[in-house]
Order: sequence, then structure tokens, then C-alpha cells
Amino acid sequence: HVAHTHRTDLMTITRFVLNEQSKYPEARGDLTILLNHIVLGCKFVCSAVNKAGFAKLLGLAGETNVQGEEQKKLDVLSNEVFVKALITSGRTCMLVSEEVEEAIFVEPSKRGRYIVVFDPLDGSSNIDCGVSIGTIFGIYLAKDSHNPTLDDVLQPGNKLVAAGYCMYGSSCTLVLSTGNSGVNGFTLDPSLGEFILTHPNIKIPEKGKIYSVNEGNAKNWDAPTAKYVEDCKFPQDGSSPKSLRYVGSMVADVHRTLLYGGIFMYPADKKSPNGKLRLLYEVFPMSYLIEQAGGQAFTGNQRALDLVPKNIHDRSPVFLGSYDDVEEIKKLYAASN
Ligand code: AHG
Ligand code: MN
Ligand code: MN
Ligand code: MN
Repeated sequence: HVAHTHRTDLMTITRFVLNEQSKYPEARGDLTILLNHIVLGCKFVCSAVNKAGFAKLLGLAGETNVQGEEQKKLDVLSNEVFVKALITSGRTCMLVSEEVEEAIFVEPSKRGRYIVVFDPLDGSSNIDCGVSIGTIFGIYLAKDSHNPTLDDVLQPGNKLVAAGYCMYGSSCTLVLSTGNSGVNGFTLDPSLGEFILTHPNIKIPEKGKIYSVNEGNAKNWDAPTAKYVEDCKFPQDGSSPKSLRYVGSMVADVHRTLLYGGIFMYPADKKSPNGKLRLLYEVFPMSYLIEQAGGQAFTGNQRALDLVPKNIHDRSPVFLGSYDDVEEIKKLYAASN
């Protein structure tokens, strides 16, 4: 029985999204087409990342982005690929990228209903040593696709219609949620060039054994964050200490958190009162996925998805992961107010 050792009924990401779409007779297939273009961008970046070492794609590009970060060649290349793929999809009217200072308004003849916010390459500091990196994206609907305004994208995360990420790791994995069919993971089969459904309906464990944070910032933390991390190492309730895992690529740290459970955090500190991670294209898409998988995402003050951005590159502290673990940090912040 060949079928026992080989999958013969391949659920590709395109087939999966088309299936979803067919549940909504009014759907016009625009989201399917848009996602196809995002998938193409992910395949391109995956291939570029794999050959970066011998294709002279490592190292700095020589420019600084609006965040004041030195751009890597792969940051610039990935940004260009996604901007072009998204515009040529004909389904977007506005784009916001980590690497571009202003929002990009698509020229009128190529406009569609969607707005895409994205981090073309997440984990820049890990590029040159071959550690997992990724792409993060979120999708909003514009009120009027003919006349998009900045207000259409300065929307809370609870208004996202879809979000996902692609991790360029030991395998290339794309995780997607469109809000009504849970969170699903697809692995790129390089021989087919197709993403195949490998992680259907991902649910994050209710409680985990891992905490993930840059502890090098500990001297600048506020009291609740410091207390939480202290409790991870020296639990007061007789339970075992948690393990520490921190890759330094949000995509990889969130992916592990989604599959294994636990908590990922980039808290506020004295030097960075809003933390480091950007709301629109890091905090919101990841918080959306975590909530869709049954977890929680908290800012230290409120539900992360309810924040309303004032500017496209705004940042926010974030604590996200297993429901019960995030509940603990929420209690500590509530008690400190
Ligand atoms: P990016 O590479 O897109 O600028 O994002 C970097 C982010 C994120 O991937 C990660 O979680 C975080 O920076 C790590 O920051 P520290 O090095 O301060 O821990
Ligand atoms: Mn960056
Ligand atoms: Mn990033
Ligand atoms: Mn980035």
C-alpha cells in the first residue's frame, strides 16, 4: 500500500484557501489571489535565504531604515519582492512595510480592496549565521479601495481579516489564519514548490514549560516583568522551573511558542518604554494567530489586538502565548496598578 507511506491527497495552500472561499458564496476570490502572491514572495525569499551564502546576499546593504536599523541585503531584497508581488496581485490598495518609511499607496489602475502590513524579513540579526528568520504579514480591508487613507491602516489588530508568517528554518513553514478556520500550518515541499498542509488546526497548549525573552535587558525591566521571570526560574508554588529559549527572531520564537506552548515576551523597559516590536507588522499578526489558536496576547495594560496605532511604525510591549501563562503576567500587572 503505497498510500500508507506516501501522501497521495495533497492539500496545497491554494486548494485549502479555495476550499475556505467556497464556503462564502459572495466571496470573489480576491483573498485567494492575494494569498497566492504572498506565497510566491515567501517561496522567493526562502530560495534567496537558502543560497544567500554563495550568492553574495549576506551582509549589510549600506542603508538605514526608518527605525534607525542598518538594513541587511536580504531585508532590502525581501522588501522589494513583497512590494512587487503585492502590487501586481491587483488586490491591494495600500502597503505598510517595516523597511519603508511611509505607507505605499498603490497606483489607481492596480488597486484592490486589501491593505497588507508586513515585515519582509524578521530576525535580521540571525541572517548571517544561518539561524531561522521569517516574514510576517497582516491583511486589512479598506473601506473604499478607490480612495484609501492612512486611517484604513491605523486600525486595531482585532480588525485584521487574515494574518500569517513564513519561517525560513530547518524547513520552510507558512502559518496562516483567516479567522474562521483556525490556524493552519503548511510546509514547503521543495521538490514540488508547493506548501502542503502539515499542521491542521493548530491549538496552543493551555500551559507551557518555556519562557522566551531577551534577559540581557533585565536591569531595565519594570517590577511585574522582573517578578514574572523570577517566578519562571524560582517557582513559589512548588512546580518545576521553566526552560529558557530565545532565538532572537520573533517568527521562530512565536512558532515554537505556538507548537510547544509557553510565553514569548518583548516587554517595556526603561530604555524602550514601548518595547521593540512594531504593532502593525509584528505584534498584531502574531497576537491574532496566538488568539486564533486559543492563547492570549497582552501589552502590560490591555489586550494587544485592541490597541489603536497612531503611526504606522508604532511599537508596543507584548506578552503572548499559552492562555494560562499569559494569565499569570496579567495578574502581576493588575496587582501593580
Ligand atoms: P527585525 O529583524 O524584523 O527588525 O525584527 C527584529 C526583532 C524580532 O525578530 C526579535 O524578536 C527581536 O527583534 C529581537 O530583539 P533583541 O535582539 O533586542 O532581543
Ligand atoms: Mn529590522
Ligand atoms: Mn521583525
Ligand atoms: Mn524585519
